[in-house]
Amino acid sequence: MAVTADKPGRAALHLARAASFAPSPHNSQPWFFVEEGHDRGFEVHADAGRRMPLTDPGGREMVIACGAALFNVRMAVRHLGFQPVVDVLPELADQDLLARVGFGAHAAATGEEESLARAMPRRHTHRGPFGPEPVTEGLLSDLRDQARAEGAILQVLDVSEKVELLARLVNTAERADRVDLWRAVELAHRVGPTGVPVAACHAHPDLTRLAGRDYLGLSRRYTVPERRRGAGTGIVAVLCTPYDHRADWLLAGQALQRVLLHAAGHEVMAGFHTQPLERPDLREEVRRGITAGRHPQMVLRLGCPAQMLSTLRRPLGEVLTRGPVPLRR
Ligand SMILES: Cc1cc2nc3c(=O)[nH]c(=O)nc-3n(C[C@H](O)[C@H](O)[C@H](O)COP(=O)(O)O)c2cc1C
Repeated sequence: MAVTADKPGRAALHLARAASFAPSPHNSQPWFFVEEGHDRGFEVHADAGRRMPLTDPGGREMVIACGAALFNVRMAVRHLGFQPVVDVLPELADQDLLARVGFGAHAAATGEEESLARAMPRRHTHRGPFGPEPVTEGLLSDLRDQARAEGAILQVLDVSEKVELLARLVNTAERADRVDLWRAVELAHRVGPTGVPVAACHAHPDLTRLAGRDYLGLSRRYTVPERRRGAGTGIVAVLCTPYDHRADWLLAGQALQRVLLHAAGHEVMAGFHTQPLERPDLREEVRRGITAGRHPQMVLRLGCPAQMLSTLRRPLGEVLTRGPVPLRR
């Protein structure tokens, strides 16, 4: 069969599609992928032009999203029956080239890897209250193991004082975001078919113990009384890392995705409340008061949603190119 030089290979398309299922801040999809040679290897790049400049000036969340995409690439390579050979931050001079993934020895995927790969398109971010089904202790323990396997720590908050402290910090950040005109504009720009769909933010952001992002400005229209807040909050957890460099953010993203996919395989989804981690003073309070000095990377709630909504992704033609690397947009 002739190889068409100007079209990406099928394996590269498969990997790019898998990578694109990853979560990203407000669906900004701050990545692009480069196929090296014809199906010889695959690069994961951060697309700094798609970073959220006000909420993510240092690019930490952008790299976490790319780390989640990288985990999907690894699982997609396993699904094809190869061992992924991952070279993290391979070029000092290009810190946006986050990883190079090659095809190693042939080895059939394990049952667990196949179920992680199957969960990629089924995983979705949830906003608002969860349904009444509990998340079992057994699953929580497995999720801690999944994070640990990637070098991160999933700290499940089982003491109500810690949940209350975290809720206070989330709510403080969220209140500050709502009166910050420029941040509100940045967020509003992310709502719509190419960002977070309107249907995915219909729940009032103040219904759960941890305030959600007010994508649609609902809090300006009506206030949720205190007694109605908190039901359906689910299990609250913080994903953290021992260190806080670019490589740790990439590691956090891979750990996050591994946790999310394992949970999704058991019909458990996550909601995110990363507002306090976007303000250095509040992030420091989370680090000292909740995560015992480890660096908090993601704040999440886990539970069983009554319904799930998917969000669109950019077409593969926009995110996948063949080497050499395209000019930045
Ligand atoms: C680093 C990071 C931070 C995020 N922060 C929030 C958040 O604070 N609130 C929220 O509702 N979703 C948050 N999300 C989830 C994204 O909005 C979501 O992944 C994106 O809209 C794509 O939807 P999907 O996850 O359902 O595929 C975050 C995702 C990432 C990777």
